Amino acid sequence: MNKGSINKSTTFHTFVAYFHNDMRIDIITVLPEILESPLGHSIIKRAQTKGLVQVQLHHLRDYTTDKHRTVDDYAFGPDAGMVMKIEPIFNVISKLKSERHYDDIIYTSPDGQRLTQQVANGLSIKENIIILCGHYKGIDHRVREHLITREISIGDYVLSGGELAAAIIVDSVVRLIPGVLSDETSALTDSFQDNLLAPPVYTRPAEFNGWKVPEVLTSGNFKAIEKWQMEQALERTKQLRPELLEGLDEDGEID
Ligand code: ADE
Repeated sequence: MNKGSINKSTTFHTFVAYFHNDMRIDIITVLPEILESPLGHSIIKRAQTKGLVQVQLHHLRDYTTDKHRTVDDYAFGPDAGMVMKIEPIFNVISKLKSERHYDDIIYTSPDGQRLTQQVANGLSIKENIIILCGHYKGIDHRVREHLITREISIGDYVLSGGELAAAIIVDSVVRLIPGVLSDETSALTDSFQDNLLAPPVYTRPAEFNGWKVPEVLTSGNFKAIEKWQMEQALERTKQLRPELLEGLDEDGEID
């Protein structure tokens, strides 16, 4: 297999590029400050400026009705931890749903489906999604039962809040939207896109401190370079993440 050739992920992205509408992501949070920086720079900022995605932050406290703008309360039962209240979450989600249809209403939680490249691919073809950032000890379970359509975890560890998880989800999704990356093919050659780690990359100078760039890369022989890159991708995957190869058939295509 050739990493740049037509395979299932290439076909997937061609399909996405053809049908993609601008995406909207609404993020509900008690700490919008944590999200402002990751969403306000680099590729995600450029994607918003280009109008390819609209990311809107909603401060949960703006949807409270009491004078203290209360978003949490003590858990019922002997456990004294604080739990996020249902009313402000219901208020903000109801308002958003009255404005447009949402494909998914996601809650960031260590209990959720693990974020993988395939999950990010799937989210990148949605039109409108909401991400609710969890906090404190948890969230009133009725929110999860009645309002949330999907829970996503960024890994088997516990964060203090869902904002960093939301930033990671948004980053992994937005870079896949056609037109966001300047080189249209670069999201296709990302690690994991075809269940392989990316091959090593180098830039000038071709020799530094006696350390040389592999000769094939400066040969100008693109066929040989592609072959080398594929071998390196396979070798690095075998060494570092052998479990990823279990999903490939004998041609290196995703089963
Ligand atoms: N909130 C707390 N821990 C989390 C995790 N691992 N993934 C997503 N959201 C979280």
